[in-house]
Amino acid sequence: MSYPKTAIISDLHSNVPAVETALRDALDRGVERFVCLGDVIGYGAEPRPCLDIVMRICAEEGALHPFEDTPLEPGLCLLGNHEQALLETPVDFNPKARQAIEWTRQEIGNCDRDAKLRYWDFLGELEPTRCDELAQYAHGSPRRPVHEYMIPRDSINTEKMRANFDAMQRDLCFVGHSHVPAIYYDDGRLFRPSGTEGPYELATETSSKAIINVGSVGQPRDGDTRLSYAIFDGRCITFVRVEYSHEDAAERIRAVSELPDYLADRLAVGR
Ligand SMILES: [Fe+2]
Repeated sequence: MSYPKTAIISDLHSNVPAVETALRDALDRGVERFVCLGDVIGYGAEPRPCLDIVMRICAEEGALHPFEDTPLEPGLCLLGNHEQALLETPVDFNPKARQAIEWTRQEIGNCDRDAKLRYWDFLGELEPTRCDELAQYAHGSPRRPVHEYMIPRDSINTEKMRANFDAMQRDLCFVGHSHVPAIYYDDGRLFRPSGTEGPYELATETSSKAIINVGSVGQPRDGDTRLSYAIFDGRCITFVRVEYSHEDAAERIRAVSELPDYLADRLAVGR
């Protein structure tokens, strides 16, 4: 079976400098397909350009290279909690995240009628979880795809882990949401990458299922300022960390008076 070399990106959070750097890096590594696990918007300064990029590269029909007019393999984009907050009302959002969502809603409202419809149609059709032949994809977790966080200390919470492994629709599930890259195996092991690492075989002698958190492109939170994403080739996974200009992304946030400076400051510390 041939499986396209797939970049799995998540939590872009309106950060164009990070997104463009990630895409160039992925294409240099021979990626043919992009899957986005949601949270394209929220926090950052450029929600519309980020939506434009994802609508282009992750389209299920007619996906296109981000910088050239050449086709890509059909992609996929899922619903994140920030998209859901935009479509409905923010649930469990702190005041700063809520402020960013309200401003993002205005930004989308400020463009012409056709563009507005395109954005709302795209957002309205996002689904909480999807599968391809090899893997399930969700923003948060297999059992609660939009809202549940998978964080490293969960690896010892056997009840939570068991419920999630039982809920999986494939032996592999890719998630984002916590912004912390890791692999959770069903034999209780936890693997935390510290940089660009792999390719690692996902099937092991003692485990049959794995939940892979790919980290965040636009707002890493594991104390490392480098953007994070993963590549899956149908058998092995590679974790990727790349430097990008978080100073540039922070400047763009500071230039928007409606966005709290805290959202810029945190990019410089990876928190
Ligand atoms: Fe997020």
